[in-house]
Amino acid sequence: MNEPVLITEALSRRFGTVVALSSLDLAIGQGEIYGLVGPDGAGKTTAMRLVAGVIGASSGRVLVRGQDPLGNESRVRDILGYMPQQYSLYGDLTVAENLRFFASVFSLGRADFQARKERLLGITRLERFVDRRADALSGGMYKKLALACALLHRPELLALDEPTNGVDPVSRREFWDLLRALVREGMTILLSTPYMDEAARCHRVGLIHQGRLLLEGEPQALLGRFAHRVFRIQGGQRDEVLRLLEQAPEVLGTSPAGARLRAVVRADFAPELDRRLGALGSTLVPTPPDFEDLFVARLHEEQPGGRA
Ligand SMILES: Nc1ncnc2c1ncn2[C@@H]1O[C@H](COP(=O)(O)OP(=O)(O)OP(=O)(O)O)[C@@H](O)[C@H]1O
Ligand SMILES: [Mg+2]
Repeated sequence: MNEPVLITEALSRRFGTVVALSSLDLAIGQGEIYGLVGPDGAGKTTAMRLVAGVIGASSGRVLVRGQDPLGNESRVRDILGYMPQQYSLYGDLTVAENLRFFASVFSLGRADFQARKERLLGITRLERFVDRRADALSGGMYKKLALACALLHRPELLALDEPTNGVDPVSRREFWDLLRALVREGMTILLSTPYMDEAARCHRVGLIHQGRLLLEGEPQALLGRFAHRVFRIQGGQRDEVLRLLEQAPEVLGTSPAGARLRAVVRADFAPELDRRLGALGSTLVPTPPDFEDLFVARLHEEQPGGRA
């Protein structure tokens, strides 16, 4: 990797007694899409806010192109585009007015602003909605406008906090196409998502839980190294099956799969498990691992005897 665009070193943040983020080490290179993936309360927003310099660290540090985002002389504001998880736009301003407002925040010249605005409205397909108030936009359109505002000043690094949460599947796909187009132009993206299926779309992912990075790597490599087996459970009465799985020592964890269950099982499990499930009218159907399964297995390793 060339000199990383973003580095965090032992980055930690407490709120009172809550450790929201614990010793996060990241090094993200130019043109990379890095996904912080984790459940509610994992520490994703805290990490994003630290990177954006919205809050300070309890210990450790953030360097964006070698600079602390909180420093007085920092130029990080010029090279960072930050899209917060929560509403960041003026709801009673129109799409065009929001863009103009953020252009003024970043002191964009008039001609520069016009050109950027047209380009961004084009790529986000918001041209038709320029006169619509932000709070009258759909969830997906709102997120695209927030992204457009974060992109106005041509940042090198984009920090996107759950950019696709609450966005419909079609708009999510468009959003990802847009992100890929941006990194092809050399942008670097740190994003967070609670959606495990989005992990596979990143160049590199970090699985985060209770403020700690549990696992990091390229999605395919992480899945390829997975040492356990994954099964969908077919047939049987759900509660009975769940009880059996929860008591079986070779089952590392279970997760819902629609109305059914999914189980991560030690690779050397005994046929006894098959037999006992069979007695409940259930069968184990092998299925490839996904990121949810990586999480389940990793949490089990963290807390032997404990369950995901
Ligand atoms: N300002 C704050 N004051 C007190 N506690 C906070 C504050 N911000 C975050 N926390 C706590 O820190 C932990 C991590 O929160 P954070 O918002 O970073 O998680 P998250 O991964 O973004 O979750 P979500 O997916 O729900 O957005 C949580 O336990 C949260 O309650
Ligand atoms: Mg959050």
